[in-house]
Amino acid sequence: MKYEQVEEVKKLLEKDMDTISNMDELNELKVKYLGKKGLITNLNQLIKEIPNEEKKEFGGSVNEVRSVFTEFYENRKNAYEEEILNKKLASEAIDISLPATKVASGAPSILEKLVEEVEEVFMSMGYDVVDGPEIELDKYNFEMLNIPKGHPARDAQDTFYIEGEEVLLRSQTSPVQVRTMLKGKGEVPIRVICPGKTYRRDDDDATHSHQFMQIEGLLVDKNISLSDLKGTIDVLVKKLFGPETETRLHPSYYQFTEPSVEADISCFNCHGAGCNICKNTGWITVAGAGVVHPNVLKMGGYDPEKWSGFAFGFGSERLAMLKYGINDCRVFYNTDLREEKVFDRKEKDLND
Ligand code: DAH
Repeated sequence: MKYEQVEEVKKLLEKDMDTISNMDELNELKVKYLGKKGLITNLNQLIKEIPNEEKKEFGGSVNEVRSVFTEFYENRKNAYEEEILNKKLASEAIDISLPATKVASGAPSILEKLVEEVEEVFMSMGYDVVDGPEIELDKYNFEMLNIPKGHPARDAQDTFYIEGEEVLLRSQTSPVQVRTMLKGKGEVPIRVICPGKTYRRDDDDATHSHQFMQIEGLLVDKNISLSDLKGTIDVLVKKLFGPETETRLHPSYYQFTEPSVEADISCFNCHGAGCNICKNTGWITVAGAGVVHPNVLKMGGYDPEKWSGFAFGFGSERLAMLKYGINDCRVFYNTDLREEKVFDRKEKDLND
């Protein structure tokens, strides 16, 4: 009698299996056979009523039905899951042959580009590119550059003081000269340039900004003279403004150089005919420079009897304005995107 019940369940199961066509139906089937009151579960309950010696055989036949079910269940379950996954993948497929949406890309800042170009020229001559702090000590920004406290030369640089009289925002990149010499501990040669930000209490106008950039240079070795300086500047400006560009030095005054000069380049625009870029002089001033003052060498730990050097300071914005035909330095620091356009156009002109 009880064995017949097992047979019945088995037959019913075989019939039911033929009707299943999706996951939901499969799950319903599971409940029908293995749920709390499922048909196979019920068969298990019958074991209690079976005499002991038959329990094993009866149990075996119930297990057989159970295996038929579980095998069917597992196979179908895997098949349905795969089907669902395939459908999902098909619906989410990406057509890689479609043209991509264009992503607007940024352009390099002209100032950054220019500084990089200058760095490359100097690195090719064996210079290191070094850095120094923008928050500087009065000692390095002035005193060790031969500008003692109270000296009138300080007035030319309207300095932002941060703490009392000792801590300031550097008004020039020249303090990096001092720091480099102190680090050099009397060893030669020193060959460095330092591009960096500088600060002065200037009112902002087309040619002034309270924050601007300089490119400082320092070379210390044996028998260095003004002609070395001139030759070095010449290499740079020919690279920046074209091979026909000439360099000229005219006398100037800085506390930390003796003699002091300003470096001019021949006007790349009018070639001497006269234009508003060179203010009809045919020459454009691009840097302050000179032979390092013996006091500065001495304070930096270099014996001025043995060593000499030259130093220079370019205004980065000025170089960029000249090179790219920009007449207002404020464009470097605002969000006027015309700056990039000027750059793109000039780059194209220069490459053509
Ligand atoms: N620091 C000077 C300035 O800000 C520029 C300069 C002049 C730098 C002569 C130098 C130098 O290294 O030798 O006006």
